[in-house]
Parts: sequence; C-alpha cells; structure tokens
Amino acid sequence: MSALIESDVAALVQAAIEKHGRNPDAFIPILSEVNHVFGHVPGDAFREISRQLNIEGGRVNVVESQLYGLASFYDMISTKPRGRHVIKFCENAPCHVVGGKAVWDTLQETLNLKNGETTPDSKWTLVTTSCLGLCSVGPVLLVDDDMYGNVTPEQVTDILERYE
Ligand code: FES
Repeated sequence: MSALIESDVAALVQAAIEKHGRNPDAFIPILSEVNHVFGHVPGDAFREISRQLNIEGGRVNVVESQLYGLASFYDMISTKPRGRHVIKFCENAPCHVVGGKAVWDTLQETLNLKNGETTPDSKWTLVTTSCLGLCSVGPVLLVDDDMYGNVTPEQVTDILERYE
C-alpha cells in the first residue's frame, strides 16, 4: 500500500470511528465507510481499524481476523477490489422461480464472469445477493444503486449498455 493510500486509510478510519463510536455495533458501519470510499476494504484497513480501536481509548479488543470475518459475511462489503460497476443479482427462491436462473445464466455468459469475478478491464463485477425486498418484481438485479425489476434475459444487453 502506498504512503498516500496508507494515510488516506488512517484518516478515513479515524473519521469513521469518531462518527460511529467504538463499540461492536460500530464495526459494520466503519467497514462500510471504508468500502464505500475504496470500493472494497483493503487488507491494511483491517489492521488500521483494529489498531485505532484498540489503542485509542477503546474498551473493545478486536483483531483483524474478527473484522475480516464480519466483512466477509456481509454482501455489501467486499474484501477484494471490485469493478467500476457492481451487478448484484438476487439469488433467492421468489426471484429464481419467476425466471431468475435464465437471467443469471445470461449475465454470466454475456460478461464471461462467474459469481464474485471482475472483468479484466475492471469494468464489471458480478455477484449474487440475498433478497433485496423487491420480490414482487422479480427477477431483480442492482447495477450500482440502480434497481431493475422483472428482468428478462433479452434485457440484459440493453441494461449493460447503459453504463460506460
Ligand atoms: S427474492 Fe429476489 S428480491 Fe426478494
């Protein structure tokens, strides 16, 4: 990690801790802020969060591996660099039974990606996610913050072409 990024991470973590506090309820919000800024949580950020929480008057004692475990559990946080655009495809049953499987297959074929992968040009990352609460308009996918419902395989190319 470069010196610039290292100082960025330290400053960002400090600001996130000041905003969210130091108790365990704050861990996910802190990780989310880092994820939002960098597109993922860099490895060194886990060390920095743990360092700042542990040495700066915190009553918690958290280690990097605990933070990494939390980050790995939540769909919204990534431990790996992602593409400029992230497609999140709902994989739960209500979307699956109304045609989700065909849409998922088309996404994978069109982008030549499997779940969790990123295109070589870093444009796209494709991931599955659990229910987005929009089951009545399934199949559902998100591209970044844009929601698409009632998606058909035929619409996939058109949706992808909206993004540079
Ligand atoms: S099951 Fe897909 S949005 Fe709920």
